[in-house]
Amino acid sequence: MRIAVIGTGYVGLVTGTCLADIGHRIICIDIDKEKIAKLGKGKCTIYEPGLEKIIRKNLKNKRLLFSTDLEKAVKESEVIFIAVGTPQDKDGSADLQYVKKVAEDIAKNIGNKDKGRIIVIKSTVPIGTSDEIEKIISEKYKGTFFVASNPEFLREGTAIYDFMRPDRIIIGTKDKKAKEIMNAIYKKLKCEIVSTDNKSAELIKYASNTFLAVKISFINEIANLCDQCGATIKDVSAGMGLDKRIGKQFLHAGCGYGGSCFPKDVKSLIYIGKKFGQELKIAKAAEEVNEKQKIILVEKAEKELGNLSNKTIALLGLAFKPNTDDIREASSLEIIKQLLIKGVKIKAYDPIAEENVKKIYPKIEFYNSAYESLKNADIMFLVTEWDEFKKLDFKKIRKIMKNPIIFDGRNVYDGKKLRALGFKYFGIGVN
Ligand SMILES: NC(=O)c1ccc[n+]([C@@H]2O[C@H](COP(=O)([O-])OP(=O)(O)OC[C@H]3O[C@@H](n4cnc5c(N)ncnc54)[C@H](O)[C@@H]3O)[C@@H](O)[C@H]2O)c1
Repeated sequence: MRIAVIGTGYVGLVTGTCLADIGHRIICIDIDKEKIAKLGKGKCTIYEPGLEKIIRKNLKNKRLLFSTDLEKAVKESEVIFIAVGTPQDKDGSADLQYVKKVAEDIAKNIGNKDKGRIIVIKSTVPIGTSDEIEKIISEKYKGTFFVASNPEFLREGTAIYDFMRPDRIIIGTKDKKAKEIMNAIYKKLKCEIVSTDNKSAELIKYASNTFLAVKISFINEIANLCDQCGATIKDVSAGMGLDKRIGKQFLHAGCGYGGSCFPKDVKSLIYIGKKFGQELKIAKAAEEVNEKQKIILVEKAEKELGNLSNKTIALLGLAFKPNTDDIREASSLEIIKQLLIKGVKIKAYDPIAEENVKKIYPKIEFYNSAYESLKNADIMFLVTEWDEFKKLDFKKIRKIMKNPIIFDGRNVYDGKKLRALGFKYFGIGVN
């Protein structure tokens, strides 16, 4: 099938590349000329393990093309995916300007041929957006077309696996033919397809992300209770997770969630609720808990050590999670902000996210390795659980730190072992 993917960011690039890999002919469109030029040469523009290899393979076999020519792509494709960003607006709602602009561009360029084109909304959009898009297009284009809602659930860092082996695919459309074509696109991915109306499809995405955010904030609150009452969160999580109704995933306590999706999607769902007169109290609580949890390491350090103003803190991990260079809404950013206000000297290190943080905080010190950042530091903050941080040589670290104090924001270390080596160790909900 000939498919256009408009917007070649995380979701568009992975969607386009993976659809090409399962046999479709894909043209990926973006307004960012530099991005398209790089991709055309087989250079991946995001950090996503394994993606560059699949891009190159499909460029070579000519199933994948990158272009800025939206007009040509729209004219030549049977199905058009919209995968542009829907960032958070000032009031917490999703900013739909990019999605609407693409809808207008599609309407202008769809041509006269009445092929019954399918416009697929892959971006995460508020309930009712598919109707709005239908209206925008039908104002300019009088032929037949269908709008399908097909939200994406991939996780950065494991995006290819998630796309190729999804837990489920959601297809929302009122048209039978569109449903058949959408099913055919995904035929090679063996998984359950949930067919529904557009609004339900749109809500499934927000409800899923918000539920996961709630689960994280819940376990973080329980971890904070462990800190107060002397219980151990790892055992509590294990005991809870073995209950199949609860499940083991997303019960790992830590210093808060971030990323391009959870924070904005929770906010957007709260806004959607407000719009429809339905207050979403649990979503609000999850958000509130998370805001506090992001700076829990700073609070713990102050509680243990008092004034931090003349301290040097080694900050290990800046990305919002391992295996990505994405720092959107990362806990590290909130921690840096707080530490700078308190006059702390920060020595930061991340395997790949440094450049992105530099754009926001150019004046903090960045180092090329965990050991370099830990040298002469008073305190270590572990913020992102990169694999390389799990394998650190703590005997060596004991010698190079000025004061051997560790605040582990992701509960990756064994406190007993570190204490035996002479460290003061503080996790989250671990005593
Ligand atoms: N990143 C994720 O992990 C993830 C996962 C699931 C869903 N989503 C959702 O998918 C959507 C896209 O997210 P993303 O992270 O890929 O965004 P992104 O910011 O990485 O990419 C968006 C791309 O769209 C391009 N663009 C903007 N306007 C355009 C236009 N008029 N024509 C062509 N290209 C245009 C931008 O240049 C950019 O490359 C969002 O709604 C997001 O919430 C993201």
